[in-house]
Amino acid sequence: MSGTLTLLFNTQIRGGRMKLTEVDRRLENKFRELVATHKERAKKIDWSYHALLPWERGRNFHTDPFHPSQATITPELAVAVETALLTEINLPWFTTGLTNTFAGSLEVLQDFVRTWTSEEDQHANIFDTYLLITRNTDPDRFHKLRKLVVSNAWAPEWGSPFEGMAYTTIQELATQAFYVNVSKKADGEDPILANILRTVAKDETLHYTFYREAVKAHLEIEPNYIWPLAEVMMNFSMPGRLMPDFEERQQIIAAGSNYGIAEYYRQVVEVLINKWDLKNLHPTFPAAQAALDKLNAHIERLARIAALAERRKNQLVETTREAALNILGYDDIKWNLSP
Ligand SMILES: [Fe+2]
Ligand SMILES: [Fe+2]
Repeated sequence: MSGTLTLLFNTQIRGGRMKLTEVDRRLENKFRELVATHKERAKKIDWSYHALLPWERGRNFHTDPFHPSQATITPELAVAVETALLTEINLPWFTTGLTNTFAGSLEVLQDFVRTWTSEEDQHANIFDTYLLITRNTDPDRFHKLRKLVVSNAWAPEWGSPFEGMAYTTIQELATQAFYVNVSKKADGEDPILANILRTVAKDETLHYTFYREAVKAHLEIEPNYIWPLAEVMMNFSMPGRLMPDFEERQQIIAAGSNYGIAEYYRQVVEVLINKWDLKNLHPTFPAAQAALDKLNAHIERLARIAALAERRKNQLVETTREAALNILGYDDIKWNLSP
């Protein structure tokens, strides 16, 4: 939300009950309840990457140098896993953003950010180690790429605690849907990878649930929160968007791993509209109602784009293999692995 909008929002508040720029302290007990539930659920699905990886497939890169022909999964799937990893490694910047957002506010939210970070911390590691052990990406090229993406220093796009929660809800659900869809592709290529993807997706489900419920609690006590929420929903883009070849990667994933704009609409946007019951929301600020109307128009447009993307899916598939080989730097070799 821009500075002007934040100012407008805050000046509309009656009796100084709430300021967008601060955590809404009326929800402290709700946050406590959500954090406690999260910790209980997270304990039940805790995992460690030493138990999930196929260590027996690891070999020394000095005595047995990498060659693209050693790969065991299709280039399309390798691009999807790389892209997941290059998104997850933005964690230091994500944690910095959330830490700054909640600084000086409720301890329970700071506690959640620490817990969340410790869970996210495993995600990049497991994908990275999987790709190395199974030789499904060029380690030298990927090492450079990883450093480049981290040094790009992704900066969060939200300006207030509520917007941070709204943004993270979308990001977590999008990531969860992406992993579940890619895991279906991995089922036919490497069940170990499919299991890793589903395991990480479970973490994302719990993260998404926490933030989704936090946003819902805001809307329940104050429907005018739709104003900043609409802004976040209309301007959302993934933290990974700064990685090289992001657009090409998106297309490869849409065609090769069944996660594109159509799935984003169906598995993320529509789900959130229903969970937050946006169709039955009645904001009282005229500007908040205008924001809701704008959001509804945006969603209708997105539905049309999603339907078009669904129809064009098959056209994309033909060029996907070549594009994936190009991203992986394998364009000069003949690829024999059948999809
Ligand atoms: Fe993650
Ligand atoms: Fe997550």
